[in-house]
Amino acid sequence: QAQATILGIETSCDETAAAIIVRDHNGVGTIIANVVRSQFDEHAAFGGVVPELAARAHVSFLDYIIAQACREADMALADVDAIAATAGPGLIGGVLVGLTTAKALAAALDKPLLAINHLEAHALTARLTDNVAFPYLMLLVSGGHSQFVLVRGVGDYQRWGTTIDDALGEAFDKVAKMLSLGVPGGPAVEAIAKMGDPKRFRFPRPLLREARLDFSFSGLKTAVRLQAEAIAPLNQQDIADIAASFQAAVAEVVGTRARDALRQFAIDLPEQHPTLVVAGGVAANRTIGAALQSAADEAGATLIVPPIALCTDNGAMVAWAGAERLALGAADGLDFTARARWPL
Ligand code: KG4
Ligand code: ZN
Repeated sequence: QAQATILGIETSCDETAAAIIVRDHNGVGTIIANVVRSQFDEHAAFGGVVPELAARAHVSFLDYIIAQACREADMALADVDAIAATAGPGLIGGVLVGLTTAKALAAALDKPLLAINHLEAHALTARLTDNVAFPYLMLLVSGGHSQFVLVRGVGDYQRWGTTIDDALGEAFDKVAKMLSLGVPGGPAVEAIAKMGDPKRFRFPRPLLREARLDFSFSGLKTAVRLQAEAIAPLNQQDIADIAASFQAAVAEVVGTRARDALRQFAIDLPEQHPTLVVAGGVAANRTIGAALQSAADEAGATLIVPPIALCTDNGAMVAWAGAERLALGAADGLDFTARARWPL
């Protein structure tokens, strides 16, 4: 395998991001530049990401973000070996902006294009940050996804469970909204939960009794809303207690599911050392992290939590997924279509 330098572009949600990474001949990755611009300000007034506004902001900023990545890497665009961009799943307007830009660069520079599945980029990040070997189990918990995936190799994924309604980050964001905590909701809920009593309210633990690796957070969210309405008007302590009790319910669900998944891993892959990798913005949550750590400890498994800046959406993970595929001889045509939905 030759060494390769890859530009990665991410525009599938509310982060405009570009990065340059190098993958050496041993398969070891190095991040040379990683630039992310979050669109909090554009969407703040709407209490959630507005797809049309997101796409327009990507159009406005992507050129600058790519130029900034080149500056930080002290490289010209012509120095990269390939261009990778998220081609889905995600908000289609945004995906089109990033993918079309990547196609234009690939055509103008005569370099290979790599159209990347955003979920694959999350799934492979731990190999960039921690050199994790296949196979491993990944838990992706973000604003748009909550799923367990067995990562057997590049392009070889098996989904073990997913959410049947809301994503976990989405549940955090909605609870934050109910409690008037602002955006982004997850960090706000976690911060105020520190002052709260996690035992004051006993919220439901959805699907916990069922022998499947799926999640459901919609009923929990409704229980939180009904509780908040029942004791309204809420004072600061009430808000903290609700946040802490919600987080406790979620941590128990995620921890238990991780235990179940690691048990399955031991059954299906008895020869392999069990490794659980976390990805997505919710990986930043300390209470959930602690629940995952104890699940891993119990199973004798290794828990990998990449640096949080690489768990949330970024260009480095897209560049890395491109590098991994390029190393296997893959490349995509300039006619590759952007996909709003694209399961792994
Ligand atoms: O991966 P990400 O940056 O974007 C995508 O959804 O792709 O994840 C964002 C999600 C948001 O829902 C946010 O509220 C949640 O991750 N989040 C957290 C925390 N930090 C971010 N949820 C719980 N606790 C946190 N500390
Ligand atoms: Zn993501």
